[in-house]
Amino acid sequence: MDKKKIIITGGLGFLGSAIAKNFFHKYDVVIIDKVEQTDSKVNRLTEYSDHFFYRKMDLAEMSTSDIEWLEDELTSTHLFFHFAAAVGVKSIDKDPKASIIKEYQVNMALLPMLAKNKTRTIFASTSEVYGNKEDCKEDQELSIGTPDILRWGYACNKLMTEFLIRSYDVPHTIIRLFNVTGKNQSASQGMVLPKMIQDAKEKNRIYVYNQGKQTRAFCHVDDFVNSIDSIVHSDLFHNQIVNIGNDENKISILELAYKVKELISPNAEIELKDYHEEYSNESEDIFKRSPDTTKLKQVYTPSIGIDEIILSFKDE
Ligand SMILES: NC(=O)c1ccc[n+]([C@@H]2O[C@H](COP(=O)([O-])OP(=O)(O)OC[C@H]3O[C@@H](n4cnc5c(N)ncnc54)[C@H](O)[C@@H]3O)[C@@H](O)[C@H]2O)c1
Repeated sequence: MDKKKIIITGGLGFLGSAIAKNFFHKYDVVIIDKVEQTDSKVNRLTEYSDHFFYRKMDLAEMSTSDIEWLEDELTSTHLFFHFAAAVGVKSIDKDPKASIIKEYQVNMALLPMLAKNKTRTIFASTSEVYGNKEDCKEDQELSIGTPDILRWGYACNKLMTEFLIRSYDVPHTIIRLFNVTGKNQSASQGMVLPKMIQDAKEKNRIYVYNQGKQTRAFCHVDDFVNSIDSIVHSDLFHNQIVNIGNDENKISILELAYKVKELISPNAEIELKDYHEEYSNESEDIFKRSPDTTKLKQVYTPSIGIDEIILSFKDE
């Protein structure tokens, strides 16, 4: 029997590539990304290129032939994973205005096509929509930070995309992701764990901002992939929002730094820094963030602990 087809936007990125690697046995995988397939620094699928079809295109600037190609592909697509976005505190902080405008352009081009073809779409939203909260539940009231700080545009964009998906009547599951991490996640985008580990290995230093009192709950990428596998093969999540994260792994950033020191680089020094030594005034730190995963646990319970997550970076 022919395999069904899935499309993954942002499919050469950290999470999209993890889905591709785990799904090509079951599905024909088509990947859309804006980076060169030959660039091994950003292509996490170089060893898997025989297992998927790649189309290089920027979803914010689609040509007529890109649109025609995608329209045609969507007529026979079983699942559409929409993961392409500017990601990471550092990347957003570099040019917050561009990421806000680009997300809008992507939505205006893509969502009407998904609506026309009634393509089931898995949209990667974010825990940032909850602002500064713990035990975040999918149906709770939301409040993000001040609009004077452009970094909140990322959360606002994701939330707007959630509303647009519903307004265009795109069949969907919206996944709100809480600090999914693991090997292959880039340190350059400012993701906390890969950055700590890179600094510990290369500079013998681990930098901690705002005294490290902030809390995060980390989820291993394998638990993320298994969550997705369970979600898309269940009937429970049609036109639903679901958190993906691991509430068991809630930890303060200072404790995390001590764990990285102990498990990766015992001689590294922990250095406390002011947040704005690293990030501009268009960015601000989030102090609390952890998921309520009651909904996810109906089909899957993430189980990989924080020590194992840290150790998974050891040989990178
Ligand atoms: N990793 C997490 O914990 C986390 C948390 C919250 C939300 N998310 C969301 O999950 C998705 C995937 O995140 P990731 O960690 O894999 O990020 P990533 O940066 O590793 O991957 C994103 C990919 O999207 C591509 N891309 C960006 N803009 C594009 C465009 N206009 N057209 C085509 N391709 C484009 C990039 O080239 C990149 O390969 C993102 O939408 C992100 O907002 C991730």
